[in-house]
Amino acid sequence: MSLRVPQIRHDDSDELAALCKAGGDPLRLTVLRVLANDSFGVLELAQIFATGQSGMSHHLKVLAQAGLVATRREGNAIFYRRALPQNERFGGTLHAALLAEVDELDLPAEVGARIKEVHAQREAVSRDFFTRAAEKFQAQQDLIAGLPQYRDSVLAVLDALAFARDATALEVGPGDGGFLPDLARRFSQVTALDNSPAMLELARMRCNAAGLGNVELKLADALNDEHIAADCVVLNMVLHHFATPADAMKLLAQRVKPGGSLLVTELCSHNQSWAREACGDLWLGFEQDDLARWANAAGLTPGESLYIGLRNGFQIQVRQFAKPDSRSELTHR
Ligand SMILES: C[S@@+](CC[C@H](N)C(=O)[O-])C[C@H]1O[C@@H](n2cnc3c(N)ncnc32)[C@H](O)[C@@H]1O
Repeated sequence: MSLRVPQIRHDDSDELAALCKAGGDPLRLTVLRVLANDSFGVLELAQIFATGQSGMSHHLKVLAQAGLVATRREGNAIFYRRALPQNERFGGTLHAALLAEVDELDLPAEVGARIKEVHAQREAVSRDFFTRAAEKFQAQQDLIAGLPQYRDSVLAVLDALAFARDATALEVGPGDGGFLPDLARRFSQVTALDNSPAMLELARMRCNAAGLGNVELKLADALNDEHIAADCVVLNMVLHHFATPADAMKLLAQRVKPGGSLLVTELCSHNQSWAREACGDLWLGFEQDDLARWANAAGLTPGESLYIGLRNGFQIQVRQFAKPDSRSELTHR
């Protein structure tokens, strides 16, 4: 007579063990800390931790298997971000607690310094592109989506917000200034910030030709200029050129006056990696939820949104994020 040994199922405890194993390593915990408000490719993380690519790939695989990081393909590169804990799932409470504790960790100074290096490398790629691209700007823009394709939608959202006549606007990254006449008609004063002298010159010529007397053009890095606040801050197709879009949203939210709005026009997430080379894009669009999450973290409330499908397969999102203010009736009609 043979004894039947009861099968013991370990499925749930396997998942928990994977979570504990992934969290049981100081380097992996610091990787989770680094991914708190950014996503990085494996090469970038290897640079940040001054380690080999294959070692970093191994750590990321362990974190991914435990459901602690999620991946996103950006052309040929894979970017890693933190996965959000799902409290209703087994292990979700432990996952949330682990991230909460990880956020208390101080980043080693050398890791912080190398993150800055990676950000600077991303920014240099974007700046170089616009220095070289000014002459063929319109053609480059039209490869994916030009202003004519999203202008009416942005204006529809803008007009629905019904800003007061004395309200002000700030456009970040106006490019050749195609949207400035629309803003100049709707706001008492418009400031436009661009960090590319060549692009700013195109915008200047357009403003002069249109005789816009209420537009001030400034050569500045929008993320380092803290002197301006406006009722409406507009970013048309600019966020995907920023090295750290979540941080950029936070900084730009500070430029919005209480009761005002941040208006973002962006590509939805896509996988056309040629856009990096051809259009200087650092990010291949954005997930709608990511924008909302970053806005919330920046103290803004998601409001109006419009989505535009283009014939070339790209999709555009026009998003409004409001800055709360008890005096909002003063800035809106
Ligand atoms: C793709 S163009 C968009 C132009 C225009 N908004 C449009 O919709 O046609 C991106 C613009 O953002 C500018 N830009 C990129 N990074 C910037 C930064 N950190 N500060 C200011 N302008 C920036 C570039 O120089 C460029 O003019």
